[in-house]
Parts: sequence; C-alpha cells; structure tokens
Amino acid sequence: MRSAALGFWWLLAAVEGQAPIGRHELLEYDVHMETEPMRRYSKVLDDFLPKREGRVLQAFQETYKEWKTVLEVILPSLWNGTEMLQNQQRLWQAFEAHPEARAELQGLSAALARQERHFTPQALAMVISMYPLLNIAPKATTDAGPSGPSACTSSLLLSGGVLHGRSLDYEPRDPMAETTVVIRHRLKDKVQYTCLQPLVYTTALQWFTCVRPKAFSLSVNARARGIHMESNTSFDEFLRRVGSGAYFLGEIAEKAMAATSYEEALALLVSLPVVSSNYFILAGTHGQGAIITRFGNSSAADVWSLKSSTSTSDGQPPWLRVQTNVDHWVPFGETYATHRRQHLVEMLTAEKRRAPASREDFMKAYFVSNAMKGSENRTSPEDTGAILRPTTIATVFLDPSEEEPNISRWFLWNATPKVLPPQSPNSVGLLV
Ligand SMILES: *[C@@H]1O[C@H](CO)[C@@H](O)[C@H](O)[C@H]1NC(C)=O
Ligand SMILES: *[C@@H]1O[C@H](CO)[C@@H](O)[C@H](O)[C@H]1NC(C)=O
Ligand SMILES: *[C@@H]1O[C@H](CO)[C@@H](O)[C@H](O)[C@H]1NC(C)=O
Ligand SMILES: *[C@@H]1O[C@H](CO)[C@@H](O)[C@H](O)[C@H]1NC(C)=O
Ligand SMILES: *[C@@H]1O[C@H](CO)[C@@H](O)[C@H](O)[C@H]1NC(C)=O
Repeated sequence: MRSAALGFWWLLAAVEGQAPIGRHELLEYDVHMETEPMRRYSKVLDDFLPKREGRVLQAFQETYKEWKTVLEVILPSLWNGTEMLQNQQRLWQAFEAHPEARAELQGLSAALARQERHFTPQALAMVISMYPLLNIAPKATTDAGPSGPSACTSSLLLSGGVLHGRSLDYEPRDPMAETTVVIRHRLKDKVQYTCLQPLVYTTALQWFTCVRPKAFSLSVNARARGIHMESNTSFDEFLRRVGSGAYFLGEIAEKAMAATSYEEALALLVSLPVVSSNYFILAGTHGQGAIITRFGNSSAADVWSLKSSTSTSDGQPPWLRVQTNVDHWVPFGETYATHRRQHLVEMLTAEKRRAPASREDFMKAYFVSNAMKGSENRTSPEDTGAILRPTTIATVFLDPSEEEPNISRWFLWNATPKVLPPQSPNSVGLLV
C-alpha cells in the first residue's frame, strides 16, 4: 500500500477516516492560440459538453443557475428587478472594450446551443462576471451569507527551487469540479503553458492556475470583500472601468502567461490596469516568487517577494509566502481568511522556523482538512483554518522548473471535502 502508484500513500491514509473523497479523471485538451477567440474552444467544448452521460452539461447549467441566484440576492437592485435586462445590456456594451472576451462568450453560447442549452452571450457575460460584481456588492459574501465560503489558498515554498501550491476553492463546488479540465495552450503547435481550468468560465474571468515550464507558474486568488475592498464602487463606476479597457483578472493573467520570463510576467501583473482587486501568486525557476496585490481602485500594486525581510503579521519566514483572501499586512484574527493562513504557516514552521519545510510537508499541509485548534466552532466568518475545505475544487502543485507539468500532482476532487475537528497540536504529520 505504501508504494501506491502515485506515491501518495499518506493521502490515502488521510481520507480513510472520513467519507472517501477521490479524484475526478483529469481530461486534457489542446487549445490553439492562433484560432480566433470565437472558435478557440469549440472543439474542446463539443467534445467535453456531452461527456459523462450528460452530467457535464448539467453541471454547466447548475453553475450558471447558482451564480445567477447569488447575483439576484447580493445585488438585488441590479439583477432582481425590472432593470435586470437593461443592466445586462449595459454590461455587454462595456464588454465592447474587450473584443476577445466578447467573442469567447459568443463561442461558449454557440457551443451550448449546439447541445440545445440556450444562454445568450449577454446572460453569460453577466453570470460569468459574478466575481468582480460581488466585489462591488454592499455585503461581503465572505462575511455573511447567502453565498458560501469561496476561498483559495496559494503559497510558495523556497526549498531547492520554488514549489507553488494552490487550492482552488469556489462554488458551486461539485458542478464546477465536473467542468474542470487541463488545457495545453499551444502556439505554432508548441505548448506554451498548461492550466487547470473550469470551463464554465471564459478566459477573461478565469481563475488561472497555470505553469509555463522552465519559466514560471501563476495562480490567482480572490480579494473579495465587497465594497470594503473596492471602496464603495458603484455599478456605473464598474462599467466605466470595464469600458475603459482595464483588464479583468483572467485577461491580465493571460497577458502574463504569454510572457517568457518571470521578470516580464511580474512587470505585467504589477503594471497593467485592472477592473477589480485580486492577488496574483507567481513563482519562478531561480528561487523567485512573489505575491502581487492589485487594487481595483487603481492604487499601486503591492509586491511581497520571497526572501524579502518585510515584517509580516503572522510570522512568515523568508522561504514561505502564504496567500489566502486577506491582505498580508492584516494581522491574524482580524478578519476572514486569516485562520487558514495562520494554520498553514504554523504547520510549516512548527519545529524548524529557520530551515525551509520539506516539499513533502508542504504538500501534506494542503491535504489538512481539520480545523485549527480553537477555531472548530467558528461560523461567522466560517474560516476554521482547514486548508482542504468544503469548497475545494482542486489541489494543485506547480513546479515551474520541470520540463513538463506533473499532473499526477494535480488533484481534482470528485466530492466535497469534509472539515474535521482539530487534531493534536503536533499534527503536521497527521496524514501519515
Ligand atoms: C510526478 O509526481 C508523482 C507524485 O508526486 C511522483 O511520484 C512522480 O515521480 C513524479 N514524476 C516525475 C516525472 O517527476
Ligand atoms: C426577487 O424579487 C422578488 C419580488 O420582489 C422576490 O419575491 C424574490 O424573493 C427576490 N429574489 C431574490 C433571489 O432575492
Ligand atoms: C484603494 O483601496 C484601498 C483599500 O483596499 C485603500 O486603502 C486605498 O486608499 C484606495 N485608493 C484609492 C485611490 O482610493
Ligand atoms: C462605504 O460605505 C459604507 C456604508 O455606506 C461606509 O460605512 C464606508 O465608510 C464607505 N467606505 C469608503 C471607503 O468610502
Ligand atoms: C466547540 O463546540 C463543542 C461542542 O459544543 C465543544 O465541546 C467545544 O469545547 C467547542 N470548542 C471551542 C474551542 O469552543
């Protein structure tokens, strides 16, 4: 058992005690970047949508239905009134400044129509823009309902090279996991970079999780606390930003992925104008790594690099950068997402604060689904410190120094991970 094919025998041990969660099969597709955006994903979607006895198609529908409901609840003045169609149309018009994004939405709409599921490009633009729209909602979904605990954990370990961990957490979890595949992005028939992508998104609003072998890897985390984060941005102001051609999270990430070096990618992520706030987590092949915090209100980016001595609020050593959904200068306990951050930091620095944790310990920590000691009863906000959360779609390890991404280290979960009660304090190795 210990020499299980994937070498992840400790993971098997970990899930023994709870409802078994396993891995979805990871389907891999090629996308040719030369293809015009409207048709870029046609072949992938035509193959993928009818798969698994219709469950994939159903998962697309369920996801859009749930996102629409969330928008109606969280921004009722915009989406749950007589002006809904008008607002949808205004948003679609603002997308004119994003011709590729518009064309991709039209392509997705057409692909769904070929399966006899009808979503207009305008309706898709609205629901797929849910994340930046939530960022202008008066109520932060992370502080209070009705939406659940969307979150992500990205981190960088400098130990040998840089290992980049990524927990992709979003909702609705089960259908989104059903729609997630691996995409190899090709140019002139050569693979440029490879990503894990929920295909319910189009590129512009995608939560990028990508690696460009021998160059860098990138993941994007939400910086979403409603108006608190976006300084009371109105819908009109949001439309102005979209219409100005400022970049959506996926657009800036795509620009960065087209770069050929870490430095070039970093420069783009720091400088291109953005529509909304986000965290970009970037790892290079020569010990480089940084968390880039972007502000939707056009304040300058904050760059927090590996090895920098910037004092932090949570004891992160220079060989580690953990990013959840809270600014790194906000101390533990103050708001949402600090428990998850603190738990990961403590697990990795428990016994050897000076020496970097091992790669194995780093990966193990991503499978910890127990709450942090003392936080097990937290409900509002609900972050209990568990890393593998009820909303975790995938757990991914990216190593930009590899010739080829090792996707046996990309775990796409087939069922909702369950949060367990805390373990003993020295439970870093609880999985073994
Ligand atoms: C890929 O990852 C698996 C799991 O960690 C490991 O067993 C395997 O050796 C890796 N393959 C390569 C080529 O590094
Ligand atoms: C939308 O508005 C209608 C009528 O005011 C109300 O009955 C319904 O509950 C609202 N839906 C949501 C999701 O808030
Ligand atoms: C932008 O928002 C941040 C909070 O995320 C705030 O500290 C900053 O002052 C704002 N900048 C501008 C130009 O409004
Ligand atoms: C945003 O609006 C809220 C509620 O109206 C107010 O309490 C807060 O001070 C405002 N924040 C900013 C940055 O303007
Ligand atoms: C959490 O709730 C359980 C059950 O009520 C209780 O036994 C436990 O002491 C609580 N833990 C904390 C840290 O409050």
